[in-house]
Amino acid sequence: METVKTIAIDGPSASGKSTVSKGVAAELGFIYVDSGALYRGVTWNAIRQGVDTKNAAAVVDSMLNAEWEFFVKDGAATFSVGGDIPVQELREKDVREAVAGVAAMPGVRKFVVENLQALENFGSLVMEGRDIGTVVFPGSPYKFYLDADPEERAMRRYRELVEAGEDEKAHEVMESLKKRDQIDSTRKTDPLKVAEGAHVIDSTSMGIEEVIQTIIETVQGAA
Ligand code: CDP
Repeated sequence: METVKTIAIDGPSASGKSTVSKGVAAELGFIYVDSGALYRGVTWNAIRQGVDTKNAAAVVDSMLNAEWEFFVKDGAATFSVGGDIPVQELREKDVREAVAGVAAMPGVRKFVVENLQALENFGSLVMEGRDIGTVVFPGSPYKFYLDADPEERAMRRYRELVEAGEDEKAHEVMESLKKRDQIDSTRKTDPLKVAEGAHVIDSTSMGIEEVIQTIIETVQGAA
């Protein structure tokens, strides 16, 4: 049987993880997994049920009572919750603002981590997130940590939001990004940090294609 390979790509918000991970997955024919989408899905499901997203017991309850299904569609791992497949909804402002708090809840992390690990049953993965190399797949020989200066990351996120038609102010995007960085790297359970043995790539002045090729060369060189 072919050995399953999982490539773990971690890093802070707007470090280029999503575009890079999709590119690496497409080039290698691996399944792309956006682990943040699942934290956003838990948050979205709680909000639509009128649950207070600061109340961990209530959030965990709504999460465990919902029916989740996982499948692969167009080369990417996808999920449905309660029969719905949220996509655009996951990027909305109320979700964006509550997700870091929800992702800090140990009960939520346990559920998400277990479901992410089970995705290996579908095949080889490129999984992006905050704790993929440290917690979800610490045994993976292919770990990357993608970073970029906070100003550059805020600019990238701002451009993305403007392109998506959101009416955001640049300084507000910077503030919200800083707040999320702060929550993600200081939380008690599975904070964002560089995994042991991870290759750190600073993408501040690198093009997306260059980052993708760097990762592919490293993976193929290590194979
Ligand atoms: O798109 P962006 O990088 O800003 O965020 P995301 O990857 O969609 O993740 C949203 C939030 O989920 C993050 O701010 C983290 O709080 C949380 N998250 C996490 O805790 N662990 C992961 N593996 C992925 C996301």
